[in-house]
Amino acid sequence: GHDQKLALFGDLLDFTEAPPLTDPGAEPRWRPAHWLLIEHGRIVGVQRHEPDASWPKERHPGRLILPGFIDTHVHSAQIDVLGAWGTELLDWLERHTFPAEARMDDPEHARFISALFLDGLLATGTTSAMVFPTVHRDSVDALFEAGSARGMRLIAGKVLMDRHAPEFLRDDVAQAEQDCVELIARWHGHGRLAYAVTPRFAPTSTDAQLAMAGALMAAHPGLYMQTHVAENRDEVRWVSELFPWSRSYLDVYEHFGLLGPRSMLAHGIWLDSDDRARLAATGAMISHCPSSNLFLGSGLFDWPAARAGGAAVTMGCDVGGGTSLSMLRTLADGYQVQALAGRRITAWALLHAATRGAAEALGLAHEIGSLEPGTLADVVVWDTARSPVERRRQSVARDLHDAIFAWLTLAGDDHVVSTRVAGVERYRRPADHDEKPT
Ligand code: GUN
Ligand code: ZN
Repeated sequence: GHDQKLALFGDLLDFTEAPPLTDPGAEPRWRPAHWLLIEHGRIVGVQRHEPDASWPKERHPGRLILPGFIDTHVHSAQIDVLGAWGTELLDWLERHTFPAEARMDDPEHARFISALFLDGLLATGTTSAMVFPTVHRDSVDALFEAGSARGMRLIAGKVLMDRHAPEFLRDDVAQAEQDCVELIARWHGHGRLAYAVTPRFAPTSTDAQLAMAGALMAAHPGLYMQTHVAENRDEVRWVSELFPWSRSYLDVYEHFGLLGPRSMLAHGIWLDSDDRARLAATGAMISHCPSSNLFLGSGLFDWPAARAGGAAVTMGCDVGGGTSLSMLRTLADGYQVQALAGRRITAWALLHAATRGAAEALGLAHEIGSLEPGTLADVVVWDTARSPVERRRQSVARDLHDAIFAWLTLAGDDHVVSTRVAGVERYRRPADHDEKPT
């Protein structure tokens, strides 16, 4: 019927191939003043001429229309520790994060947090995410139920941790396995949801639990896997003490059968060239989390080396190590991290990593990450400027990259006008949102 159709007018930006990291001349697909046609939740076409009267229309002249962002690493319960002062990774976990995660023991609280968290993602233009809830089985149900209600593409799973965590946050191998098996049956492949076996990181799982996680991966070929690797130097040293036989931190995961083409490893700052070769050989992906790496003082990820080694690099906000749910802020931090390491990454490489690049790495390019007909209509309408100063900056942009990079650097959450998931509007900027003075 009529209500299943929608034509959106604006400046369409997406990618058909991976751009180089540092050459701004390699432009994306740019279709200004075009119509995006949506039917039954899917993109069905893009055209320059106005569609006929059978199409309900929404006009956004001068606004950007982008695929919804894909965040490949974030912790739902950690919205409670955003901007927590004073610590590096291991102290930060003990002092701030574990107490916040403990509260997810209460299913009602878990539902409350999950709704806030997902609405927060949608309000920043993120429509798909790989998420760590907590060790509690009910926290996974709460997240998936909330994701399902919003129609979002979510990949998540129960956090596994059976040692080196407070007693009230530890599971055990047998109970964890039973929880995973139940959750996989309930959620994996349910609508747009997929299950990820989720050992928190090597230090918080025993050998027996990592082996159980590997066995789950072997028994259910479609599952994802997510964890952390080589984020912080103290953490890396600790892993070498806990697993003295291992060649490296990454090697621990490979040993237990956890590296494959659906494995997402957050951070990967302190990897060596052998590790990068193993990532490429197994097809495992990196989630680069620059906001977190800056905030926790973890280090500077070597993006060109990972890419040259053949590993897929995607982007995660890593809240609450990261300080914002916004992928746009995450991308701007990605530029800063690479700048500190002496390189300049383009807006195109950053935006690609948060859209089509992540979709391809996850094996989901047929569903998300671009404005290609046939994919689901997860689309976001953005203002390029919200103040006289921003409009001035846009008006003097030298070329498309200059305009889009300045937007990426300056824009806040208030630049999101509308977020659609499978064609359905799930976020709309409040009408009384006044313009900023500068
Ligand atoms: N390593 C293990 N757990 C965590 C976490 O919650 N956040 C970050 N940034 N790193 C981790
Ligand atoms: Zn994390």
